This record gives sequence, structure tokens and C-alpha cells, in this order.
Amino acid sequence: MKKVYLETFGCQMNVSDSERVATRLVADGFEITPHEAAADVVLINTCSVREKAEHKLYTRVGQIRNSEREKRGDEQIVGVLGCVAQLEGETLFEGKNEIDFVLGTKAVGRVSEAIENVFAGQKRYFDLGDREDNYDWSVSEVQRHLPYVAFVPIIEGCNKFCTYCIVPFSRGREKSLPASEIIRQVLNLRRQGVKEVHLIGQNVNSYRPKIDNGLEDFHGATAFSRLLRAVAATGIERIKFNTSFPRDFHPDIVDAINENKNLCNWVHLPVQSGSNDILRAMRRGHTIESYLQKIDKIKSSPRKLSLTTDVIIGFPDETDKDFQDTLKMADYCKFDSAYIFKYSPRPGTPAYSMIDNVSAEVKTDRFLEFEKLIRFNQRAVFRSYLDKTVEVLVEKISNKNSMELSGHTTCQKVVNFKGSSELLGKIVKVKISEAKTNTLYGEICCNL
Ligand code: SAH
Ligand code: SF4
Ligand code: F3S
Repeated sequence: MKKVYLETFGCQMNVSDSERVATRLVADGFEITPHEAAADVVLINTCSVREKAEHKLYTRVGQIRNSEREKRGDEQIVGVLGCVAQLEGETLFEGKNEIDFVLGTKAVGRVSEAIENVFAGQKRYFDLGDREDNYDWSVSEVQRHLPYVAFVPIIEGCNKFCTYCIVPFSRGREKSLPASEIIRQVLNLRRQGVKEVHLIGQNVNSYRPKIDNGLEDFHGATAFSRLLRAVAATGIERIKFNTSFPRDFHPDIVDAINENKNLCNWVHLPVQSGSNDILRAMRRGHTIESYLQKIDKIKSSPRKLSLTTDVIIGFPDETDKDFQDTLKMADYCKFDSAYIFKYSPRPGTPAYSMIDNVSAEVKTDRFLEFEKLIRFNQRAVFRSYLDKTVEVLVEKISNKNSMELSGHTTCQKVVNFKGSSELLGKIVKVKISEAKTNTLYGEICCNL
């Protein structure tokens, strides 16, 4: 039996694709191994969103080709999957480190054929083709990244073409999955004991299935809010969704959350900048005023919702005034946390032809100043949980301390507490006694 080692970079969509790749491989008679040195095949599922992310691929292939195993002359096949594979295609074979095959973002269902072709002697095998019509979106229980949490893709690709972003090129146009299929999957996951599903896509609010099959009985201003209500009706304990696109974020989403306890208290709404000039140059399709209107709706929700975002620092022509506007926006929004990225020019995107004229030094200064503000607000938010009791889905034994368990609240905070492994998969009440930057600590009160 051939052994496969699978490594994943990038977003939840890549994690989800890798889960299905592993599911497919096991069904086809391969074994998934956690040990790279023991593997006959090493697969790298890649991300191209920033230059650094892309470089990880080249570093890893270099390490694999210089490993002890290679030096012994033991054959090890290296396959590249995901966004870099889709974008670079055959050119990946030209590097100094040998890659055996390349599979694009929609070709991952054919991973077993690719490996078999390479073992049969085919050189430079690549497949950048579309998904097969009968592509199976489900994941076997064993291959989920966590036993009690499942990712369920609802829409793939992106039509937005923000000027800095490579995703529409690596993932293609938006395509929504049928609602009936999503609901079938969630019901199935619930039967398997999954407690939390994450409905995922580059822009979940743009969900627009060809036929509303499965949503007829649900009200809502958009297909996405009807889908949220339909998934809530499955009775699964927790539902989160990610990522929301500000322009398409309809206020009815907040109403749907308030109507259904199992829709979680968390919205991730990437703003990218607080300056209208920069938002226009990014072609985001929202202004800061329209963004803040959505924030006001989220903040006025009867059930308190946590709010997170993404921000890009140092987009071409970003002036000090633009940056000050970004600080002002963040001060107003009081995000629970934020992912902050320095602008990274991506070949092939419209912004690539603009001059990357904010110096590395200025980018770093602005990054640090912005981070300081975010951390300041974040600390206040995290401290507000002290002495409060939160409900935690116990997901795993903590990586840092084997006596501790770790899980998430409905508002997406990580909580660690002492407890035994029998609690895994349960939702428990934890009284918070300590707040660190990204983690809350506490003591368990009782099982729910
Ligand atoms: N679909 C989501 C996020 C996609 S990528 C959205 O529309 O917001 C995740 C994050 O990476 C983005 O929100 C953005 O903040 C960041 N990002 C994307 N391209 C980037 C680039 N070229 N340089 C720096 N950050 C980038
Ligand atoms: Fe990229 Fe914009 Fe699409 Fe998000 S909405 S994936 S940032 S192009
Ligand atoms: Fe990266 Fe591709 Fe996701 S570029 S962020 S892995 S869609």
C-alpha cells in the first residue's frame, strides 16, 4: 500500500480540499501517513495569496529533495496541488527541484489517477482541468481536520476581482453548490456527531444557487440568508460562516442570526482599508460609509456579535492620511481581532502594474502602529470576558499543555481549561479567569 504525506497551506478552502483529497486517496487504496520520511508520495496543497505564501512551496520542495530519504535514493514522488499549481501549471517543472506532477484547484478529485500515472512512468504530469460532474464534496469522518468541527463549502471561486487579489485567477468564477446538497451534508454531519459546521467560500454572501431547491420553505432577503435559516433548521448545534464580502452583506443576515440560536455570534467582514480612495483603487465595491452602516447593524444586534476583519497595509499610493483614516475606522469598529497584511504585489493582478510605492520601512511602521491599535481594542474585548461564563465546544487536547483542553466559543474565541479527554466533543460552560492576547483561560463549571 502506497503511503501519502499531505501538507496544506492557505485558507479554509485549501484545508477543505485537502480533507477531500485524503478521503479520495484512502477510498482508492492509499494510506495517509503523518510521517514525511515514510511517504512514497508527498503532496503540497499551496497558497498564492501573498509572495511569502507562494515561497513556502519552493522552500518545502527544496527540503524534500535534500532529505535523508532522497540521499539514500529511495524514490519519493512530489505533487503540487492548489492555487500555485493552478497559476503556474507546467512552469513548475522548470525549477531546479524536481516536481513530479501538478494538479490545479479543480482537478484535485483526480489525485489518485495523477499518482498512478506518475508511478507508471509518466513524466511532468499535469491536470488543470475542471471538476468532474459527479465530484464528491463529502469528507470521511477520519479525514476531517477536527472530529467535531466540519467545513462545508457552499460557494467556490470569486467574481470580485479586487485589484490586489490572485484568488479569482486561482479559483475561477463563483459557483454555488445546490442548497439541497449542503443541507444533506449538514444533516449527515450531525448524525456523525459533528457539533459545529463552517459554511465556507471566498464570499459566502454572494451565494446564488442555480435552483433554490431546498430553500423554498425559508424566508430571507437573499439566497444566503435563506440558506442560513435552512441550515439552522437542521438542528445542528453551531453554524459559523466565512468569509463575508461587505458589499453583499445584507442586514437580514444579522436578523437570521438573532432568530436562530445555532447561528453563532461571529461575523468576519474584511474591510481592507479605511480610506475611500484606497477602497476605490482596490475596487472593493464598498465605501467606508457603507461599511460602517453594516457595522452599525452588526453592533446593534440584540445578541452581541463578535466582529473580525482583514486589513491590507501599504497598498500603492496609500498616503499618511489614508492610513490615518484606516486607524480611525478601526477605532470606531472596535474589532475583536484582525488579520493584518502588508500589501504584496501578485503577478497577473491589476494592481501589479501599479507602482508598489509605499516603502518597506513605511509599511512596517504603519503595520506596527495599526497592530498596536488592534491589540489595544482586542485586549479590552478579551478582558471583558473575565469572570463571565462562556459555552465552549471542546475540540482537542491543548497543543501546549496535555492537561488542558481547548475549544472555541460561539463568538470564535479560543478557550483553554483543565479537563479530561472525556469532555471532547461536548459543549461545556467555562468561567473565564485569565485573558491573554489570543486566548481565554478558565475553569469548567458543569456539562451542559
Ligand atoms: N475573500 C475574502 C478574502 C480572501 S484572501 C475577502 O474578500 O475579503 C484573505 C485576505 O488576504 C484578504 O482579505 C486580504 O486582506 C489579504 N490579501 C489578499 N491579497 C493580498 C495581497 N496581494 N497582499 C496582501 N494581502 C492580501
Ligand atoms: Fe480576493 Fe476580493 Fe475575491 Fe476576496 S472578494 S477573494 S479579496 S478578489
Ligand atoms: Fe491562498 Fe488560494 Fe486560499 S491563494 S488564500 S489557498 S484560495
